[in-house]
Amino acid sequence: MKQQHLQLDNNKRLRHFLTTEGLKRDLLVEILDTAESFTSITHQQVKKVPLLRGKTVVNLFFEASTRTRTTFELAAKRLSADVLNINVPASATNKGETLLDTLRNLEAMHCDMFVVRHQNSGAAHFIAQHCAPHVSVLNAGDGSHAHPTQAMIDMFTIRRHKQEFHTLSVAIVGDILHSRVARSQIHALSTLGVPDIRVIAPRTLIPAEASSLGVHVYHDLDQGLDGVDVIIMLRLQRERMSSALLPSEHEYFKLYGLTKEKLALAKPDVIVMHPGPINRGVEMDSSVADGEHSVILQQVSHGISIRMAVMSMTMQHDLHSGQDT
Ligand code: NCD
Repeated sequence: MKQQHLQLDNNKRLRHFLTTEGLKRDLLVEILDTAESFTSITHQQVKKVPLLRGKTVVNLFFEASTRTRTTFELAAKRLSADVLNINVPASATNKGETLLDTLRNLEAMHCDMFVVRHQNSGAAHFIAQHCAPHVSVLNAGDGSHAHPTQAMIDMFTIRRHKQEFHTLSVAIVGDILHSRVARSQIHALSTLGVPDIRVIAPRTLIPAEASSLGVHVYHDLDQGLDGVDVIIMLRLQRERMSSALLPSEHEYFKLYGLTKEKLALAKPDVIVMHPGPINRGVEMDSSVADGEHSVILQQVSHGISIRMAVMSMTMQHDLHSGQDT
């Protein structure tokens, strides 16, 4: 609940982007529409607009990333911001004091926006609570909690292919338990009006709170994929598994891997998505990852427009907003 207030300024405009949870439909649609207006810039000779000229964006990544960090960087550069990339090795970090110290130092350099990825849930929220009034914080993934820009990329991709949300059946398959992407997607899908959200996974990879999120839980892939419009595959997040939650990867693929045969259970015009990185032969077959239903590389391209949208929207926040926590 509190995050919802922290994210908005006094005029209910986006100040930080920490989670899709609790944000109103209009705001999510505004992000999608703003992103749509930025897509043409990619095809211009000069791929730049001056919206963030004079602003400094810091990519503060405590966890590994390729797609997310580079598309945030490209987005900032296309908005004419100066960009600083700070890769903090995970082993050297110590939440709390160190994070605050880093923040104070970067503020002393007059930075305007922090894009934060951290292995601990709540890290971006913590920075947002303690930063100066002119600063905006964008969550680029915190633990297994939230990854709101990825979720909005996925909403953008779905809208481009399916136009409307209110008629769709969407299946999210795989490691729901550890997935910050799945959590952010579920909140966004339900706010945007998707009536049938399914999660498909072994019992050990479904979070206890799943049913309270308004999703339909399936443990059988064939049943779960029946007649769906969109399939979102997720990576097995081995690095977040504290114990053996699964048999072998081979066994997992046999039960939950997406193959051409399984794909035939969905609607004929189904789209297949994955936030990346893909483990071929573990969660999906290469013939599906590279097949005609796959929109996985489109998701990557959309990352730039969505991140430009969120950056430009948060930089317009009311500087007189209180530090409402
Ligand atoms: C995801 C992440 O880091 O949460 N990837 C991404 O941002 N594109 C999903 C994953 O790591 O499996």
